[in-house]
Amino acid sequence: MAAVCVVQGASRGIGLQFCSALLSRNVCKVIATCRNPSQSEGLLNLKDKHQHSLSVLPLDMTNEADIISAAQEVSNRYGKVDLLINCAGMLHPSGRGETSLKSVSQEGLLETLSTNAVGPLLMAKHFTPLLMKGDGLIGTQSTEKKSQHCAVLVNMSAKVGSIQDNGLGGWYSYRMSKAALNMSTKNLSIELGRGQKKVVCISLHPGTVDTDLSRPYHKNVKTLFTVSHSVDCMLKVVDSLSVSDTGKFYTYDKSLLPF
Ligand SMILES: NC(=O)c1ccc[n+]([C@@H]2O[C@H](COP(=O)([O-])OP(=O)(O)OC[C@H]3O[C@@H](n4cnc5c(N)ncnc54)[C@H](OP(=O)(O)O)[C@@H]3O)[C@@H](O)[C@H]2O)c1
Repeated sequence: MAAVCVVQGASRGIGLQFCSALLSRNVCKVIATCRNPSQSEGLLNLKDKHQHSLSVLPLDMTNEADIISAAQEVSNRYGKVDLLINCAGMLHPSGRGETSLKSVSQEGLLETLSTNAVGPLLMAKHFTPLLMKGDGLIGTQSTEKKSQHCAVLVNMSAKVGSIQDNGLGGWYSYRMSKAALNMSTKNLSIELGRGQKKVVCISLHPGTVDTDLSRPYHKNVKTLFTVSHSVDCMLKVVDSLSVSDTGKFYTYDKSLLPF
């Protein structure tokens, strides 16, 4: 039985690498979603290599109708999801976080919140019926039968979304959006942890990773991970998850971050 894995935000960067790493296991069906599938060279190359295990669906995170039709398509093809990774994200529409209040704008805040926090929650809403039908093939099953999980949901967060850890300020839109995303992880872990079938929900910080999103800040970074190192580490975390981990905010090495 194959694990069905949905990677949302898969055109490039960390999301694309998640697809590649999951496909290389040869036991997963991967559904990659992104805004413009025909423009993602990385996904087109992966599709050539993994014709039968990879499906690519169009999905703009800011459009609920896209999310609904992607969920419907996955339901028709596979009838379940074992792993959902909400990966799409933006720093700010300008590509740079605000350094002070002067650069805060309504438009920038709303677009960042819509992509980073509203979209992932709508993904959870429309994919929950499929996650509930998961076979628990991702993560570790506990020996206690009653606490077993059926699926795993990962929200790609960021350390700068931690309210407690915020010592520098700035980056209003991004920090607020990831803090809101973390609250939705916590809420989801409670609601989807009540029944017999539980979905393990976590927020995950990938480290500072060499992608387009972080590029303007590379000069100041002490440790810059490659996407493949970050994703290898994060998949180890995902593989280790059980119901006792739900609702937590982890880094790539499974250290706990404070909300
Ligand atoms: N890189 C880091 O150092 C770092 C650190 C902490 C957290 N993160 C988080 O990790 C995640 C992935 O980031 P990354 O570094 O891989 O960034 P990236 O290379 O810039 O990729 C961003 C991805 O998000 C997608 N996206 C943006 N807006 C979207 C929308 N409205 N609908 C659908 N997809 C959309 C992009 O798709 P298009 O190609 O269509 O634009 C792209 O696939 C983000 O959530 C980010 O906040 C990254």
